[in-house]
Amino acid sequence: MARVVVTGRIPDAGLDMLRKNHDVFAWAEDSPMPREKLLDVVNGATAIVSLLTEKIDEEVLVAAGTQLRIVANVAVGFNNIDVAACAARNIVATNTPGVLTEATADVAMALILMTTRQLGKGERIVRSGEPWQWGMFYMLGTSVQGHQLGIIGLGQIGVALARRAKAFGMTIAYSNRRPVDPTIGAELDATRMDLRTLLASSDVVSLHCPYSPATHHLMSSEQFEAMKPTAYLINTARGPIVDEAALVEALQNDTIAGAGLDVFEREPLVHPGLMRLDNVVLLPHLGSATIETRTAMATLAAANVIAVLNGETPPTPINPVA
Ligand code: DGY
Repeated sequence: MARVVVTGRIPDAGLDMLRKNHDVFAWAEDSPMPREKLLDVVNGATAIVSLLTEKIDEEVLVAAGTQLRIVANVAVGFNNIDVAACAARNIVATNTPGVLTEATADVAMALILMTTRQLGKGERIVRSGEPWQWGMFYMLGTSVQGHQLGIIGLGQIGVALARRAKAFGMTIAYSNRRPVDPTIGAELDATRMDLRTLLASSDVVSLHCPYSPATHHLMSSEQFEAMKPTAYLINTARGPIVDEAALVEALQNDTIAGAGLDVFEREPLVHPGLMRLDNVVLLPHLGSATIETRTAMATLAAANVIAVLNGETPPTPINPVA
């Protein structure tokens, strides 16, 4: 029986699939597994099912041993895995694209509405007991209808968000290295722009690119300066794509109007400057957090493991081993 190590809690549906034919060690606590424990339990593993809270690097691969055949991430983002180190050792790395697209796009759309209509601030006022009164000019936001959504990284989640935004009357611009499939471009009536033009012309900018050294601090002071002072930034991708210190400055100085963040640079820490600002909505990385989505993520990761351990091609490889 192959040893499968699951580094964090995942829905039973995924564990049940793995337990049928394998010897499964699964971390059962909600808090992330301590690094020392991870290095210890992976020893002898043929498969690691990882969560984004665990860094799967060279040290972990060495600790696992030469029998390790797959690292299956239960996330679409895989910046926690050293994919090159896996490839160098002929270890397959997989992720879970597709199954969390709609849930994440829902949260991105929710953040757009929360920021442009000041819904977070409004909720805080009511809960605080602070006196309030309907008024013609009380807490005015801006409409999304007729305004431009600029999507940086129009992949599956970006497209799902664009569909929602179009239904809310927004026009769609995007910045990608390559144009999107013409059918999707036509459906969304989406205009491709270089990053600078997109930043300068969009009313809402939403990040959907993967995090890598190339996208580290893609959004920093220069980019905030390029945005309209009335524009909003939304991030449901990965925290370090945004230079948080520069964002705090941009929000404090009204360089941009506001931000909606589901992810943070030093998660779960949040820049203290953000905590003090009313023009930012802060969510604790909830993009894929529905039971249906998490179950689909767990079962897809399990299917990846089972396929590789059966000598088959996994459904969603990151780096197919040649
Ligand atoms: C992912 O899959 O990358 C998400 O961030 C998890 O919620």
